[in-house]
Amino acid sequence: HCALSAHRTAGTRSFLSRAWELSEQPLKKLVRRPLRLRLEAGAHEPMEPVSTPYQHSLLKDRSQYDAEWRRSVEDPAGFWGDMASNYHWEQQFETNHQSENFDVRKGKIFQKWFRGGKTNLTYNCLDRHIERGLGDSPALLWEGNEPGTDKVLTYKQVHAAVCQLANWLKANGITKGDAVAIYLPMLPELPIAMLACARIGAVHSVIFGGFSSDALASRVKNCEAKVVITATGGMRGKKAIPLKRIVDKGLAKVSGLVSKVLVYKNPDVPECDWTDGRDVWWQDELASQSTDCAVEWVESEHPLFTLYTSGSTGQPKGVLHTTGGYMLMAGTTTRYVFDLQPGDVYWCTADCGWITGHTYLTYGPLLNGAASVVFEGQPTYPDAGRVWAIVQKYKVKQLYTAPTLIRALINAGDQWVTKYDRSSLAILGTVGEPINPIAWQWYHEVVGEGRCPIVDTYWQTETGAHIITPLPGVWPQPPGCASLPFFGVQPVMLNEKGEELQGAGEGFLAVKASWPSTLRTLFGDHARYETTYFQPFKGYYFTGDGTRRDKEGRYWITGRVDDVINVSGHRIGTAEVEAALTEHPGCSEAAVVGIEHAVKGQGLYAYITLKEGHEYTDALKKELVNIVRSQIGAFAAPDVIHWAPGLPKTRSGKIMRRVLRKIAAKEESELGDTSTLADPAVVDALIANRP
Ligand code: PRX
Repeated sequence: HCALSAHRTAGTRSFLSRAWELSEQPLKKLVRRPLRLRLEAGAHEPMEPVSTPYQHSLLKDRSQYDAEWRRSVEDPAGFWGDMASNYHWEQQFETNHQSENFDVRKGKIFQKWFRGGKTNLTYNCLDRHIERGLGDSPALLWEGNEPGTDKVLTYKQVHAAVCQLANWLKANGITKGDAVAIYLPMLPELPIAMLACARIGAVHSVIFGGFSSDALASRVKNCEAKVVITATGGMRGKKAIPLKRIVDKGLAKVSGLVSKVLVYKNPDVPECDWTDGRDVWWQDELASQSTDCAVEWVESEHPLFTLYTSGSTGQPKGVLHTTGGYMLMAGTTTRYVFDLQPGDVYWCTADCGWITGHTYLTYGPLLNGAASVVFEGQPTYPDAGRVWAIVQKYKVKQLYTAPTLIRALINAGDQWVTKYDRSSLAILGTVGEPINPIAWQWYHEVVGEGRCPIVDTYWQTETGAHIITPLPGVWPQPPGCASLPFFGVQPVMLNEKGEELQGAGEGFLAVKASWPSTLRTLFGDHARYETTYFQPFKGYYFTGDGTRRDKEGRYWITGRVDDVINVSGHRIGTAEVEAALTEHPGCSEAAVVGIEHAVKGQGLYAYITLKEGHEYTDALKKELVNIVRSQIGAFAAPDVIHWAPGLPKTRSGKIMRRVLRKIAAKEESELGDTSTLADPAVVDALIANRP
């Protein structure tokens, strides 16, 4: 743990954070305060770039990338038009198919790609391959929670299962544009359910199985789902997660909205309660459905899915992605970034409840005719060698995971890795947070035996697909560097006034023009979409991240500059956690900040002020943690509760989070100017009261 933490740069203060705190610009309201930039990779003198013998099948070298990238931004309609010819379009799009407004000063923000075209994502993921003779190739390789439980589904078998579910959805009143909520464990039925929705033009909204009944209810309500697809439960290691019970509880809060709950009977969790007339069994209902289902051809901009993600303020927002552009970016990035080809065995360890499971477990690999591993269990169950046992068993060629898992596995010891044959591995990927150089090196040397390039892919729920990423074997890769933009993406580094910075330096990461898989809106709230992403820097999409750029033009992502925290690669808004904590009858005020965490990357640190008459006890701490578990989910539970009879506030009553972050990080020597505090004594009291 110490070795890992030492690589994090404690106390790095960049000009960015000062800019947020001092400037009077309007974005201050949106981005209430900076998270201390996590410069773990970027603040170090970059380590020497690492070369590997890997040869990319499409790109010879950096200069070919440069030429293709230039073309992709100078003539996006032409470049993406060419890429689109790899897919089936039932109706061809217009030659000049792209239109957008990226500048709030010019009116409403909109983005349209492949105008005039009609296609279907599921057809492109399944039927297209079957028609070209790949029907008997494996599409999904399911590895169950218990070693030895597994299932191989070919493209034809997935197609049949998708059609049966699509027919059931149609028979139950779901038509083009209707929302379907999916709350399933990592069974093959999860990607199958997504593909079934896309086949008939229904809009899926996958809810991560770790979310609580309250979180489920608010998502079902927001997207107005008519049907919920779930399972009796799922297994995570030795623990059974009673998903259906959570659905029942959640739906009780949004009565009348959902007419049908389709329940997959998971033999590992056989029991659940039942509501007659509403609940039906997947196995009973689907068996009688035809294994053929006509494709619903949809316009390029037809909504494909909503996925809820956390922002700086307020409740999670429903990011909306549409069909044509998302398909193009999902397919093209997967092809280039993982050099993925038909027949490759590829494993993305993400859950389909997050964007990575959408783009890089389901759609991207299937668009490329590969076999995608779907793992139900936990990476350390039954022991710390499970990941490598799976790599050996399926002969995984591309492995895509998160730094948090890498750090957890480092701690388990190299012997768990070296015990298994990893000679099939060719490309390693990471996503979700900056990867610290030590974890990078371990991944490269111990896991990949120095042979595999690492792609440190930077993107977001909102971007739909990778936007800044290395391409394997195309250039030597410095550890911890997301590198260069993917084709068609024009990142810029801005100063606090929104001016583009040139050359090497540090700034806010934004993007200058639309790319095919940008989010199109926030479901039901276009105004919030504009305010969140386009208002902070006029004329740009703002990522919410800081970046450094070196003199080679490479980007080093430094982390969020807003109130979003990445815990084990799960994105959490501090405002959401605070809202949950203040639901407790004893809690008068809560302020949550991020702290460095050796394995999770970041942890949650909550300052709590109680109402008069309530006692600061350990039992109450437990209650507070539990309320977050029940309102959001266990993954958002605070790591530390710090009793705060007083919080540091300005005279106008605003909490000075900067001070709270310093105290949480035990860096009170760097508190900075506290003269604007209404009661400076509060700070000493907090330090004295450290848990
Ligand atoms: O802060 C960035 C971080 O994850 C955020 C996006 O989170 P989410 O929408 O949940 O999507 C995660 C999976 C794409 C970003 O704003 N992030 C993601 N990838 C990287 C990263 N930070 C540094 N390096 C990365 N490779």
